[in-house]
Amino acid sequence: MTLRDALRAAAEDVRAHTDRVPKVALVLGSGLGAFADTLEDAVVVPYEQIRGIPQAKVAGHAGNLVIGRKEGVECVAMQGRNHLYEGHSPDDVVFGLRLMIHLGAEYVLITNAAGGIGADLEVGDLMVITDQINLTGQNPLIGPNDDELGPRFVDMTQTYDLELAGLAEKSAEELGFAMKHGVYVGVLGPSYETPAEIRYFQQIGGGSVGMSTVLEVIAARHMGARILGISCITNKASGLGDEETLTHEEVQENAAEARGRFVSLLGGILAKLA
Ligand code: HPA
Repeated sequence: MTLRDALRAAAEDVRAHTDRVPKVALVLGSGLGAFADTLEDAVVVPYEQIRGIPQAKVAGHAGNLVIGRKEGVECVAMQGRNHLYEGHSPDDVVFGLRLMIHLGAEYVLITNAAGGIGADLEVGDLMVITDQINLTGQNPLIGPNDDELGPRFVDMTQTYDLELAGLAEKSAEELGFAMKHGVYVGVLGPSYETPAEIRYFQQIGGGSVGMSTVLEVIAARHMGARILGISCITNKASGLGDEETLTHEEVQENAAEARGRFVSLLGGILAKLA
């Protein structure tokens, strides 16, 4: 089956539940999925009812597509995301996001939990992603290109939308905190980085580091969506903090702590898009 046929089939399955057309697609990172629960008039479609959406490989991690309104804006959110390190192919990693854009979303708000590399980044900070460095060695556009979905060679000179970044900036200011800025370094994982790797990422201009986002952003750019990316800094990157080890529990706890501010920020941004 071609990618376009797969997207059509998946869209049909979603439209069997609702024919609402989303304006904004949300990808919610580790510990941040709760935002989808705040959507109003929500229609929840489990991934297993959507042809082509890969099932989460970790047992107990239910995946849902949630369509709902927030601040008067029709949204669609992925609750549960697929990563390369789970053994998913690049195509599978980006299929859900492609589907949300296919369903009509013009804007993509993509978020992640990330380690802070930039000297100005503290745990709990929210960072607007200004650009990315894809170090996964993978690309979701490898293989035949469907010219109706997007061009063979995708321009990446201004990948993250400046206007949307401005809205994030303004919303944070209204909420009484300052957004940080930086370049997101996307790695394969699942092991965390070594201190030597982090020193290398400092040299090449990295601001935050994580195991998601870069492939999804390439696929979204291919389909012409406007992208806002936000990293929630859950820890100082390897070797930069006082802690001698880095654990997934620490990452999740700190993401949970930042959740309130994060939910308010997303609400503020959506209100400006209404
Ligand atoms: N490295 C990679 N991925 C991450 C990190 C990190 O320090 N924190 C949260 N996700």
